[in-house]
Amino acid sequence: MARGLQAPRGTFDVLGEDGHRRRRLTDRVDFLFERFGYAYAETPVFEDTELFARGVGETTDIVQKEMFTFDDLGGRSMTLRPEGTAGVCRAYTEHGMHKLPQPVKVWYQGPFFRYEAPQAGRFRQFAQIGAEALGSDDPSLDAEMILMLAELLSAYDMPRLRLRLASLGTPESRRAYSDELRAHLRERAGELSEDVRARFEANPLRAFDSDHPGTRAVMAEAPKLLDRLAPEDAEHFAEVRALLDDAGQAYEIDPTLVRGLDYYTRTVFEFTNDALGAQSGVGGGGRYDGLVKQLGGPPTPGVGWAAGVERILQAPEREVDAGDALESVYVAREEGSSLRRAFEVVRALRASRLRVEMEQAGRSLKGQLRHASRIDADVVVVVGADELRVRRPRAGEERAVADVDEVVAILLDGR
Ligand code: HAM
Repeated sequence: MARGLQAPRGTFDVLGEDGHRRRRLTDRVDFLFERFGYAYAETPVFEDTELFARGVGETTDIVQKEMFTFDDLGGRSMTLRPEGTAGVCRAYTEHGMHKLPQPVKVWYQGPFFRYEAPQAGRFRQFAQIGAEALGSDDPSLDAEMILMLAELLSAYDMPRLRLRLASLGTPESRRAYSDELRAHLRERAGELSEDVRARFEANPLRAFDSDHPGTRAVMAEAPKLLDRLAPEDAEHFAEVRALLDDAGQAYEIDPTLVRGLDYYTRTVFEFTNDALGAQSGVGGGGRYDGLVKQLGGPPTPGVGWAAGVERILQAPEREVDAGDALESVYVAREEGSSLRRAFEVVRALRASRLRVEMEQAGRSLKGQLRHASRIDADVVVVVGADELRVRRPRAGEERAVADVDEVVAILLDGR
């Protein structure tokens, strides 16, 4: 017999209760974005490789070593999207969306791909939920974005969740700062990890990301970008902070916050769940005021975030939606009962928006009742040869009822 096939390394199947939890997250997100006025958008799962090379940045880990890149049959280089912002910016330009009333606010969800070393919470195919607002540099958008993500995460029990916040300023102030930082790193190159030493000339800011003790000591004494912001960037950052303060949103200013993508300007933020270990980033984002132009579009500011679905779902749900509080019903069949009768009961209960499953595996009545308790049914409706009974297994009650309408009345109104 052929050997059983397995899902590729770093990927996973979503099955059973995990599927329900995912859908509940999707429902929450749907409602959240509708309230904040964000429209749902989809962009392709693969794009021209150049989009990510230009958008995410040639010196980033993502572009240098984590992309699933392939030539299509026409010889064009394509890449499975490692992130969603570049695709949204491309679509904004391609569809002339700068002519629409600004800002254009969209959200998305779906699979993303990074060739990373798989470990707990880190996959090669993972799902993101993301939001982008293009066409305004108003600080209220930065604050709105952060509050939206905070609200989404508040549905999950994450006692060790922290919001880290910083500003990266403009590319010009960052360039001047990078030179200053490079000089600092050159002076203390002997204390740095080999990896950082090899790469700091290209991207010195990434050295803040290192776990290496020597490098960390050097970085602790490094000049900080937050102290080098241009006045208008510092003012923008102060406004974002004031709006978050007014909203009662707690945060920590983290001058060492580095994001793994090159397009950021001004505000950057990240929610980390310290309960998750090494892969603690639950969601993050920031402003990218130069990205649309860099991709060939009109000069357009933008801000957004993305959150990792698998990392959110590692935490238990705090509250279960009303839809879930509905009673769940299992329709059991006694020997000699009519399948059509049972199916009619099921249809009537589902039409009343109850959660209903029925016996479909040929079990004995005893086996069916055992199964009903296994799937945690609140109510079992037993269809007999010529009668119906409603059982509440937890209360140990059972009563005969006249017809389907009475079953519905009992379950919906508690009569
Ligand atoms: P990112 O921080 O690279 O940002 O990814 C966002 C989230 O995706 C992370 O916080 C994490 O939860 C999840 N994630 C990333 N890589 C993996 C992985 N290998 N396995 C599981 N989860 C993962 C972005 O992607 C930006 N596009 C966010 C953004 C939108 N910035 C502005 N707009």
